[in-house]
Amino acid sequence: MPTSAMQESKSMSALFTPFDLKDVTLRNRIAIPPMCQYSAVDGLTNDWHLAHYTGLARGGAGLVIVEATAVSADGRITPGCTGLWNDAQMAGMARIAAAIKAGGAVPGIQIAHAGRKASANRPWEGDDHIAEGDPRGWDTLSPSAVAFGAHLPKVPRAMTLDDIARVQRDFVDAARRAREAGFEWLELHFAHGYLAQSFFSRHANQRNDAYGGNAAGRSRFLLETLAAVREVWPGHLPLTARFGVIEFDGHDAQTLAESIELARAMREGGLDLLNVSVGFSTPEAKIPWAPAFLAPIAGRVRSEARLPVASSWGIDDPQLADRAVADGQMDLVMVGRALLANPHWPYHAARRLQVQRPSWVLPAPYAHWLERYQLQT
Ligand SMILES: Cc1cc2nc3c(=O)[nH]c(=O)nc-3n(C[C@H](O)[C@H](O)[C@H](O)COP(=O)(O)O)c2cc1C
Repeated sequence: MPTSAMQESKSMSALFTPFDLKDVTLRNRIAIPPMCQYSAVDGLTNDWHLAHYTGLARGGAGLVIVEATAVSADGRITPGCTGLWNDAQMAGMARIAAAIKAGGAVPGIQIAHAGRKASANRPWEGDDHIAEGDPRGWDTLSPSAVAFGAHLPKVPRAMTLDDIARVQRDFVDAARRAREAGFEWLELHFAHGYLAQSFFSRHANQRNDAYGGNAAGRSRFLLETLAAVREVWPGHLPLTARFGVIEFDGHDAQTLAESIELARAMREGGLDLLNVSVGFSTPEAKIPWAPAFLAPIAGRVRSEARLPVASSWGIDDPQLADRAVADGQMDLVMVGRALLANPHWPYHAARRLQVQRPSWVLPAPYAHWLERYQLQT
């Protein structure tokens, strides 16, 4: 967006205010959260990913975060997940980062290890663990040999101290490759019942060594991984994490208090922003699905941990998104499925919020015509 248009829109709506973090400026507060496409082979991206991320960036969001990208082959959720565990995977990712930037958004990427939820079928092929004996599957790792349950019954192997050190090195190597590929925003996937969240969660972590037990022990893997990545990720670029601060399992007051304590420790360890999410560590959770149900919790983390936050889950109404920023619940609104349904959601949001010259969230070859003819679409 040209600077003049940025300034005009600035006064109109909180959602269309630029956001600065470290040396990075997002053109507005709309961020596209990581969303797996399950369409890679051997972790390599292809034309699908390039077209998908190019389209999302052209739609006008300030930040596009590339899907959960595995730090090792055994860290993939499914055989179709993207990876950055070898140098051959960098070229495709570099094209995607460049395309997002050319579309006017900041290129971000989430790096991940799926832990005990790995070795699964794609969502549209069952979403369950690949059957034992099927050569497409692999052995899974977790803090303790405890299965997630329900549709993911596979019992993982309890990690040794060597396994822990190896996975942390994999995070560091993937972060370095992400930077070399041109990404300017890194998100560590510490959420959604995958490996790092499993270390934090009592549902998955039954260790009695330094990586388990009380909240400090259960936080150790996350803080150590953050510290190791901080060493290689440039200090002038945002280093962020996605973390499930609550499980909705009946122990929410305690989990939230421990999570906020961990968020403070992460800030002190060099974290620049927390993407506040749900733990998803147990199939027994009773999640109160409703539009923007997590926004008040994100706001609490933001004020009590004194850390910039992003959040998502059902914030697909422009007014709701605008209010979440204006009310100080979050610095960035992550809009996921609504952007899959309509990659030009930011344009329509700008119109709904009566931002001046809303077409200028779009690239010039689209914006010129929409501006000129004021189409009512
Ligand atoms: C197709 C799909 C894939 C997703 N993949 C990821 C992922 O890779 N990493 C992640 O942290 N969350 C993932 N999520 C969760 C989204 O990032 C987002 O939090 C969720 O869709 C809620 O936001 P929404 O209500 O705006 O869609 C995925 C969601 C969808 C729909």
